[in-house]
Amino acid sequence: MQRIGHAVQRKVWSSAKYQGILPLMLINKMKIVLLTGMVLCGLVALYPKGTPAGSGPEYTSDDQLKFPEHYREWVYLTSGFDMSYNPAMNMDHHMFDNVFVNPEAYKTFVETGTWPDKTMLVLEARKAQSKGSINKAGNYQDGDVMGVEVHVKDEARFAGKWAFFGFDEAKTAKMVPTTASCYSCHAEHAAVDTTFVQFYPTLLPIAQAKGTLSPAYQKENGPKSPTTDDTAEKPKSQR
Ligand code: HEC
Repeated sequence: MQRIGHAVQRKVWSSAKYQGILPLMLINKMKIVLLTGMVLCGLVALYPKGTPAGSGPEYTSDDQLKFPEHYREWVYLTSGFDMSYNPAMNMDHHMFDNVFVNPEAYKTFVETGTWPDKTMLVLEARKAQSKGSINKAGNYQDGDVMGVEVHVKDEARFAGKWAFFGFDEAKTAKMVPTTASCYSCHAEHAAVDTTFVQFYPTLLPIAQAKGTLSPAYQKENGPKSPTTDDTAEKPKSQR
């Protein structure tokens, strides 16, 4: 061991002697600066404007919401399959919807059980497919997005704190008017702060633990008290 160490040391010294120690140190410093610069440039190139790191809402000068380009890099909440508010509805095809939320808002929800200002939730609709590749049964999601709807919390901007936007092909969207049924259904049936947390399996237990479920949801879905639940204590024959 001793000998190897010594040999290495000698080699360094001999090259240092040859070039002079100061230029060698300068070259090393320059190398570090250059390398750091290259890494930083690489990071900037990888994450251009509008990255998931800064994923709050952005608007045009005429109050339209800009399409959240990077929503697919956000936190995934759920996929609904053929969900419908209308029991009589009969679609000629199956549908998936996928819900995503910006990472900053997700982090706050995990800590507090509710959404901070500048939350953005995205609902992406995709047609279901059954025939393709090796698939013999069941459904998978089509490559084409059929529509994207966004639910934004921006307390200073919207009188009701939240607003809905619907995107088709365009990269900007006007706010859905507050008279639309989106607002009333979400306000009357959604579990937390007008969002459908009852269908987001990783978030519902957090809201339950933090006590942030909306009064409307609790009334609609709360546990039945023993006196109103008439099957509870009766013998089987009377049920
Ligand atoms: C009758 C009730 C109802 C109406 C009307 C309704 N929604 Fe929803 N919305 C839901 C349900 C239920 C979910 C949960 C979907 C899931 O679990 O995949 C949801 C989820 C969403 C989400 C995901 C974020 C969140 O708030 O939970 C967005 C965005 C959304 N809806 C937009 C809209 C827009 C835009 C309209 C109006 C054009 C609308 N909704 C109308 C019931 C409704």
